[in-house]
Amino acid sequence: MKNSTFFSRLLLVALFCGGSHFLQAQSVIPVPLQMEQTEGAFVFKASQPIYTNLQGEELKLLNATVSSLKYTDNLSAVAKGHIVLEKTESNVPESAEGYTLSVTPQGIRIASRSDAGLYYGLMTVKQMSEKDGGNLRVPACLITDQPRFAYRGFMMDVSRHFRSKEFVKKQIDAMTQFKLNRLHLHLTDGAGWRIEIKKYPRLTEFAAWRPDAVWKDWWFKDNGRKYCEEGTPGAYGGYYTQDDIRELLDYAAKHHITIIPEIEMPAHSEEVLAAYPELSCSGEPYKNAEFCIGNEKTFEFLENVLTEVMELFPSEYIHIGGDEANKNPWKECPKCQQRMKDEGLKDVDELQSYAIHRMEVFLNKHGRKLLGWDEIMQGGLAPNATVMSWRGEEGGLKAVRSGHRAVMTPSEYFYLDYYQDAPISQPEAIGGYVPLEKVYSYDPVKPEMSAEEAALIYGVQANQWAEYIPTDEYYEYMMYPRLLAVAEVGWSVPERKDFADFHRRALKAVDDLSAQGYHPFPLKDEVGHRPESRQPIEHLALNKPVTYNAPFNETYKAAGDKALTDGIRGDWTYSDGRWQGFISRNRLDVTIDLGQSTEIGSIGADFMQAAGPEVFLPAEVIISVSDDGKNFKELKRETHQVSREPGFAFVNHTWTGKTSARYVRYQARSGKELGGWIFTDEIVVLPPR
Ligand code: ACM
Repeated sequence: MKNSTFFSRLLLVALFCGGSHFLQAQSVIPVPLQMEQTEGAFVFKASQPIYTNLQGEELKLLNATVSSLKYTDNLSAVAKGHIVLEKTESNVPESAEGYTLSVTPQGIRIASRSDAGLYYGLMTVKQMSEKDGGNLRVPACLITDQPRFAYRGFMMDVSRHFRSKEFVKKQIDAMTQFKLNRLHLHLTDGAGWRIEIKKYPRLTEFAAWRPDAVWKDWWFKDNGRKYCEEGTPGAYGGYYTQDDIRELLDYAAKHHITIIPEIEMPAHSEEVLAAYPELSCSGEPYKNAEFCIGNEKTFEFLENVLTEVMELFPSEYIHIGGDEANKNPWKECPKCQQRMKDEGLKDVDELQSYAIHRMEVFLNKHGRKLLGWDEIMQGGLAPNATVMSWRGEEGGLKAVRSGHRAVMTPSEYFYLDYYQDAPISQPEAIGGYVPLEKVYSYDPVKPEMSAEEAALIYGVQANQWAEYIPTDEYYEYMMYPRLLAVAEVGWSVPERKDFADFHRRALKAVDDLSAQGYHPFPLKDEVGHRPESRQPIEHLALNKPVTYNAPFNETYKAAGDKALTDGIRGDWTYSDGRWQGFISRNRLDVTIDLGQSTEIGSIGADFMQAAGPEVFLPAEVIISVSDDGKNFKELKRETHQVSREPGFAFVNHTWTGKTSARYVRYQARSGKELGGWIFTDEIVVLPPR
């Protein structure tokens, strides 16, 4: 921060006077429900015994992560100067994951109804501990804490780029420090199948391997998107054996994390259908991404796969994907058409719903519940299903209104593969702009929800897809510190949330994570919002009517026919509701009526290049003016070199000079050979200087 204000200096003085313990005590993420700083600190050796009345399996589980644990049936006899973990029903929070923590100069006492709560109390102590010579020091405090939501998750895409089990464990180590408790593994997708299924060896001998390591190369090259045999020289991929999965599950359980497996259906299944083409509508490899729903063999396959998955994973939920199906092949497929006739299904949405219902019946019969992306609502939601809402919040809201549980994962807040800072300052990402503050600002409970509906919000989850994330280091860079904001959204009540305070704690957490060998984004160097977007701009065309000689696109309409003269400039992403998109004949063509003849000194607009989603800078710009709105005088006509260069750019095209006119016309078109989108946020008209 450049402007180190008087106030922030005052605050620093206060912190130093209070001693560094104050800072440490306030460093906990997620912020506890209640926290009171008291006098002094407890100083102890890391090897010091921790006494507990936990027994049996619970004691064994905690012993896996806490080495100096000692059982006693008489905690009250433990002498002062010790750490005590007490499982008890009295004077502890309602939630099994909740705990009370008391630190005094004489010792530490954590109490909870469950081993999970005691574990989380220890996680809080860990975050508050600082080294003091050969000892650890925890500032004295009183904490009462419990989570707001039961489900606090992270989804890891291990299909687009495979991640080793060591990498997964390393992320479990971090997640658990921040009290996240669900790891959703996206195990299958077109880019590679990642779990051994004994009955279908081709899934891992073949569908788990491809000739290109980097997803982008594999996906976009001519004749790409092919698989190869395991062991082919240069083959990239991998999978978890069933033993690997058991090892991961065991590791996660010790860290109070439930792993939820996702097996994608009916779409995102190119890899399965390359290995087992008889399960697709065409019957041929490399033709379909969706299973044939008319074919009984599809259900036999899916049920056999899920049977092995359920034998491995003890989770209450099994995620069956359900997103982004191209249902068109089903319209042409005789088997699918026959299924629709036999089952009285009126359209392909209902055909998808039929498949999801069948999977739910199967899972329920085996004592499990179905979780799926919000598209599983299309054609009718299965009766006991839980919805993961990613296309905004609408799916989740609809789910809770109809009595279903929802996990909120809206992409515009919780997709960690989106840029976290100005794209021009970052390694290439898939797009978007989701800075830490945006993640932190999310609240899954809406004012319009009834208490019953709010209670059905099971929790929140961040999703980190990996198309554009080839390396482990970059994966961590995108994950942290934004995942910490998700942890606080999931755990802490809104009354305790405060972004400025969280930001301060996150800066420390970034240092701590780096010291632990992670590769977080250096938050202290954050560029932040696009400068132009920070405040409205005053200009001559402000609030003046705009005639569209070519229409804007309805999906990217921003403020509609007011967008280009509302003074509001766009941020780093075209999907922020500020940028207006044009794709119709790939051109922008608008006329602004200034209302009367006006002295003009410049006419300009900003454009964006985001090559991945085919947003291109204009190849030609024409700026003209008129007194009668019919006869225009050209002020500027310029052609520009444009290309598919990856990455982002922002360019301004302005005419400057001196003229007088009532009407202003701005035209911009894409390169003929490129096509794609044109995006702009404002036509800025200024008086002569
Ligand atoms: C998704 O992002 N397709 C769930």
